[in-house]
Parts: sequence; C-alpha cells; structure tokens
Amino acid sequence: MIKYIGSKRVLVPHIVRAMSAFPESGRVLDLFSGTSRVARGLKETGRYVIANDHLAYAATLARCYVQADADGWLDDATQVIAELSTVAPAPGYFTQAFCEDARYFQPQNGARVDAIREEIVRRALPPELEAIALVSLMEAADRVDSTTGVQMAYLKQWAARAFNDLQLRVPAILPGPARRFISRRSKRRRPWRPTWRTSTRPTTSIATWATTTSGRPRSLG
Ligand SMILES: C[S@@+](CC[C@H](N)C(=O)[O-])C[C@H]1O[C@@H](n2cnc3c(N)ncnc32)[C@H](O)[C@@H]1O
Repeated sequence: MIKYIGSKRVLVPHIVRAMSAFPESGRVLDLFSGTSRVARGLKETGRYVIANDHLAYAATLARCYVQADADGWLDDATQVIAELSTVAPAPGYFTQAFCEDARYFQPQNGARVDAIREEIVRRALPPELEAIALVSLMEAADRVDSTTGVQMAYLKQWAARAFNDLQLRVPAILPGPARRFISRRSKRRRPWRPTWRTSTRPTTSIATWATTTSGRPRSLG
C-alpha cells in the first residue's frame, strides 16, 4: 500500500470493529477515500461500499480495491501485469519531471514508469483492469521512491530503496461483485477484448470524480 500522509492504515481495524456494532448497515459510504484503505477494509466485511474522491489517483485506487471483483479480473490482471513487466524502458515526461528536474526516482526506474504507463494507455483496457494495472505501477513506484510519503516532497539524499529495480506485482484485489459506473473516461472507451467477463450483481460500487492536480516538486530539507 502506498505511503500517504493522512492514511487511516492503523485505524482501519478499529473502524471495521466499530462498524460491526451496526450489522444491519450493509451499505457504507467512504467519502474522501484517499488510498481506499478504509473502503477496502469495509469491502472485506462484505458490505456494499461507495467510495468517493476527486483526485484521479485516489479514484484509480478505489476502482482497483473497491470496484474491481477479483473473481472477474484477477486472471486477466495477472496476465497483463506479467506482460507489462517486460516492456522496455523509454524515458519521457515522467523521467524528465521526476527523475531529472527533481529526484523522486532514479532515472532508470523513471524510464520504466514512462514506458509502462504509455503501454497501459495504448492498450485501452477496461476501467477496472486499467486501474489494477495503474495501481500495480503506482505501488511498484512507491517501493522505489525517495520520499517520506509526504506529498510533493523528495529527499535530499537518495533513499536506499530508490536503487532497487522497479518490479510490478498484482495488487491484492478482493472478491466481490461490482457494479460498473459510468464516467466521462469510460464512455469513450472501447473494450480491450470483446469477451469481457463482467459481473451484474451489484454489491459494491464506487462513484468518483477524477480530476488532476499539479504542483511544483520541492525538496524535503
Ligand atoms: C486525508 S485524505 C483521506 C484518507 C483516506 N481515508 C485514507 O485512509 O487514505 C483526504 C482525501 O479527501 C479528498 N478530498 C478533499 N476534498 C474533496 C472533495 N471536495 N471531493 C472529493 N474528495 C475530496 C482528497 O483528495 C484526499 O484524498
């Protein structure tokens, strides 16, 4: 799971325990879901979870950990992530902005982020599978970054882990049928393959507004 200031990681078991006092509430709303840790913890209890966050990265995490049903997507995700792992590095915007103009990542890892990100876009995957692939890349990048988990800040001295090679892993998505939601992006999408398996039983859903933010990289002094 991604390092993130404000994450409720250590609170999740307490929240889940507190929620067990309301067994009749089968439907919960995680407003401002961030890393989706809370929403994911509640999905694990079998509840119908609605998650919302206006940041694109948070929406992607929620689409992966809340919306995607492992029973429907795990096999395809495993295959896609294995294929993405073989993509040749190709430095681009990410390498320039985050490895050369700033020092969040070693350039060799930045070049892999660039190449894998481009390949994910090129494949025009269905939203859930795209989100799983992106989260795999985000988490892989997080394991080799040179930050303390504070937004927009990188370390003056390289973190030791930054010298490791970026490696994709399949995110630990949960089983549980999901209902697809319509977003501006998914309306434009053509299916990656015509034979997609999608669930129709709505027990978990997510509503998101994905916007992007920008900011100047700065060093953590
Ligand atoms: C402290 S973080 C949430 C932490 C989250 N519970 C977790 O465990 O990772 C706050 C989140 O609120 C989101 N947020 C802030 N204002 C929002 C708004 N008006 N609409 C949707 N999301 C918003 C931010 O994007 C951020 O991800």
